[in-house]
Amino acid sequence: MTESNRVIILDTTLRDGEQTPGINLNLQEKLEIARQLEKLGVDFIEAGFPAVSEGDYKAVRAISSSVKCGVAALCRCVESDILRASDALKAANKPRLHLFVATSPIHMEYKLRKTSEEVLALVRESVALAKSLCEDVEFSCEDASRSEPAFLCEILEAAIDAGAATVNIADTVGYAMPEEFGALVKYLIENTPNIAKAVFGVHCHDDLGLAVANTLAAIQNGARHIEVTINGIGERAGNCALEEVIMGLSVRRDALGAYTHGVKTKRLYRTSARVAKITSLPVPVNKAIVGDNAFSHESGIHQHGMMQNPMTYEIMTPESVGKPESTMVLGKHSGRHAFDEKLRSMGYELLQEELDGAFARFKELADRRRHITDDEIEALVSHKVADVPFIYKLEAFQYQSASKMKAMASITLLHEGKLLSEAAMGAGPVDAAYSAVSRIVGGEWVLAAYDIKAVTEGEDALGEVTVRVKRGNRLYTGKGLSSDIIESSVRAFVNAVNRAMAEGNGNGLR
Ligand code: KIV
Ligand code: ZN
Repeated sequence: MTESNRVIILDTTLRDGEQTPGINLNLQEKLEIARQLEKLGVDFIEAGFPAVSEGDYKAVRAISSSVKCGVAALCRCVESDILRASDALKAANKPRLHLFVATSPIHMEYKLRKTSEEVLALVRESVALAKSLCEDVEFSCEDASRSEPAFLCEILEAAIDAGAATVNIADTVGYAMPEEFGALVKYLIENTPNIAKAVFGVHCHDDLGLAVANTLAAIQNGARHIEVTINGIGERAGNCALEEVIMGLSVRRDALGAYTHGVKTKRLYRTSARVAKITSLPVPVNKAIVGDNAFSHESGIHQHGMMQNPMTYEIMTPESVGKPESTMVLGKHSGRHAFDEKLRSMGYELLQEELDGAFARFKELADRRRHITDDEIEALVSHKVADVPFIYKLEAFQYQSASKMKAMASITLLHEGKLLSEAAMGAGPVDAAYSAVSRIVGGEWVLAAYDIKAVTEGEDALGEVTVRVKRGNRLYTGKGLSSDIIESSVRAFVNAVNRAMAEGNGNGLR
């Protein structure tokens, strides 16, 4: 194993991942994900695209001052983007400006409306400007897999000459085939004269389900920097999943070669679970590495084989990715210390006051049941992540419904010290309650998605409702938890409203 086999990991969950439709994370949530990523051992966190929104600018700034690993900020080859990103990165320990421009004929003609000579000149100027502001500059070719390879060589050479220390090619639309992409990487490394002065990277999308295969093919052909997201979340079909590519490298060293990286594989499961929870994008049960079924064996033949030797049907152990055994271990006699220990094993490291709140909620629940499961603990704790300022707080609700009749709900919310009540009719109690909330807060709030999950089993199961509510052209996620599903539903809706209000998307639509 030589140092030249070290693969640098840039995680873009907070930038490309956050571009997943329906995800909008607040600052607190982004910071929590950034801390998880740092503990996981990624080299760089791409924290946002500061020129596109104030929220991204603030997130890059806050993350820059909270982590020690590299922090990258994305920018177009546009002076104002570069200045804004550089400003946001000021407090970073290892700041990186990540510039990109499209290099494919279709993008240059229809999107940029520039000739290839103009794009080349833009790369030279922009990378030089970035380099004057930040020592570490990465340059990416957008839609590289549909670009002319010879032109890519010219672009990469120009970017390296102007100071880029990492050059990256993106399979932006997930079009490449593994063999072809590997061959492109090889060609570019062999035909870009100054390539030895830079690290070669790739950024793959999953439109054909090949992002991981393409990334592995790129590594085998000389790429030493890869861009990935947790659970593969991202635009359209998503990005290359960090956990899959890392476990591919680790499980198939025999086939791929011995590459090193900084990722602590035992933290993969908990990081995936936290990102799924915070983004409200559940991990599919059959998802490789981190899905619930990834290590379960249903058929008798498989179970028998597993009992004789786990390697018959498992190519890696659940422990190697940190998948905990799902046992019920906490109950009403458990103390704060045991509770804290349990949370740590699940990837939660809470501040003292957060721990106090979660422990109080745990005790309340423990008084009502014999055992508390991991899922319930997760729900109790992650409830805090869903917290946004209580601009409106649910104080009371009541509903009536009967078959063949419209339902009626009346809701009381606390707002700026005043109790506000409204009643409304609806197709069912949830619909009626949502109309009553909308009347109180004013304006149009459209329910775009509603999901309910029983967090526990039994009669007093906790039900967690996740909603996506449309306000203007923005979607807001809200969560609510209660053993009464109508209450969970109302709480989730009010949570989404508060999230919109906290962002300034209240009565006056942006
Ligand atoms: O997919 C893409 O092309 C990107 C670039 C900005 C790297 O995300
Ligand atoms: Zn991308």
